[in-house]
Amino acid sequence: MYGRTEHCIDSKMALTRLACVLALLTVHCYFSVLAVMLTTLNRAPSANEFEQIELSCLIESISTVKPRIEWKKIKDGKPSYVYFGGQIAGDLENRARIREPATLVILNATRSDTAHYRCEVTAPEDQKNFDEILIDLVIRVKPVVPTCFVPKSVPVGQSAELLCVEKEGFPKSQYQWFRNNEEIPEDPKSSPKFLNSSYMMNSATGILKFSDVKKEDDAQYHCRAKNEAGMAQCAPQRMEVYDINVASIVLGVLVVVLVLLCIAGGIYCAYRRGYLTSQNQTGNNYKAPGKNEGVDYVRTEDEGDFRHKSSFVI
Ligand SMILES: *[C@@H]1O[C@H](CO)[C@@H](O)[C@H](O)[C@H]1NC(C)=O
Ligand SMILES: *[C@@H]1O[C@H](CO)[C@@H](O)[C@H](O)[C@H]1NC(C)=O
Repeated sequence: MYGRTEHCIDSKMALTRLACVLALLTVHCYFSVLAVMLTTLNRAPSANEFEQIELSCLIESISTVKPRIEWKKIKDGKPSYVYFGGQIAGDLENRARIREPATLVILNATRSDTAHYRCEVTAPEDQKNFDEILIDLVIRVKPVVPTCFVPKSVPVGQSAELLCVEKEGFPKSQYQWFRNNEEIPEDPKSSPKFLNSSYMMNSATGILKFSDVKKEDDAQYHCRAKNEAGMAQCAPQRMEVYDINVASIVLGVLVVVLVLLCIAGGIYCAYRRGYLTSQNQTGNNYKAPGKNEGVDYVRTEDEGDFRHKSSFVI
């Protein structure tokens, strides 16, 4: 008895299922006959610059014999025609063609082709007489050689900043730094070779910053800019790391002090001997050994002046 009930339910369900399938088929047929329906193989295609790329727009169902097909490009919210009245127009003129029925093939993509594109098909003889499909196209651009800045020489213990900039790449370049042709890991702790180095690296900004330059950081550095389309790198440049030698600084200071002492001593001696006293005193000093004191005052003055001058000449 129990089994029979189950059987009954089973057959009821089978019938319901059949009804459903039939209904679905009918709906599908209805639309197949009276509606234009589009589909695409790829809603978000991408290619490198100067390559070929297709924006597929397939007509899944249509009954209109000659539908109207149009393509619009939407960049920064502004639409413009790229295919209209059977002609490639605007930005894509001479660079694209239509592959039946509605696929747009860009033969030589450029960076300015990155945009949204809309395939629009109007089929007047269909009940549902319009359909559209939106495609998001990305054209990747290879990085160019980045501009790199590496400080020429840095004293041990100081900070140093190495810069790397590349602006053409799309999507935006990521950066890698190399020390003597060996890639510098983002985290110095991850490699025994870089364990002692004090750097921080930012692969998004290209900045490699040492907070405390070590002797081992003295090396050739170069940077690479990289994205999905390719890579480019700058030539290696040396960052020299020099010691600030405490002994030589002390020696230098001592030498300066010594020189200053000598000069001071010299001035003092000169003063004691009277070379640098005022003119009146000079006269008196040179009068002292003279025999004709007071007799020929003017002459003595002359003599004093003469000697004074000659001392400067010496
Ligand atoms: C694509 O266009 C670029 C410049 O717009 C040109 O240099 C290149 O030769 C073209 N490539 C092909 C395959 O036509
Ligand atoms: C890092 O520093 C430690 C201690 O100063 C030293 O023993 C080690 O050899 C250094 N490692 C490298 C790779 O220079």
